[in-house]
Amino acid sequence: MKNIALIGFMGAGKSTVAELLAKRLNATLVETDMEVLRLSGFPSVNSVFDTEGEEYFRTLEQEAIRESVKLGNCVISCGGGVINSAQNIEILKGNAFIVFLHASFTSIKQRLKNTDTRPLFRQEEKATLLYAYRLPLYKQCANLIIDTDDKKPEDIIKVILEKYKLANGN
Ligand code: S3P
Repeated sequence: MKNIALIGFMGAGKSTVAELLAKRLNATLVETDMEVLRLSGFPSVNSVFDTEGEEYFRTLEQEAIRESVKLGNCVISCGGGVINSAQNIEILKGNAFIVFLHASFTSIKQRLKNTDTRPLFRQEEKATLLYAYRLPLYKQCANLIIDTDDKKPEDIIKVILEKYKLANGN
């Protein structure tokens, strides 16, 4: 099975959808944030950012992406910032069906009950700017864009499976 990569802003629902999708497809679930923690030995994303800095986080994030696409048969829930790197996009484009889970900033705020675990969501004003900056990047590299505002995870999975099967000729 070709890998499926879920991209989108923090709080878009990538983890929830990825978990259900991986179960449905009997695929391996990869959370790039978890892989960064495994590779770094740090207990949390905050601690990686605060101790080693964002650049270090991004280096490990790229390593996590490279490793996971090599595995194959994966549903990859990507951290919100993966699209900041042209290399990441290239790796994903060549090795995965990329799904952008779009959500309005209002929905994101509602879904992100705990912003404390997101170093780049500490200040809402900055997060708003980041959201606006990233929106076109997510759109550009996606094979499929799903507006998730009024959809439940199950509805999202239905759309992904339908389009994924079409794109892969089965
Ligand atoms: C980030 C998103 C986070 C995590 C880190 C940076 C970002 O992942 O990778 O805090 O740059 O948007 P989620 O999108 O899973 O919250």
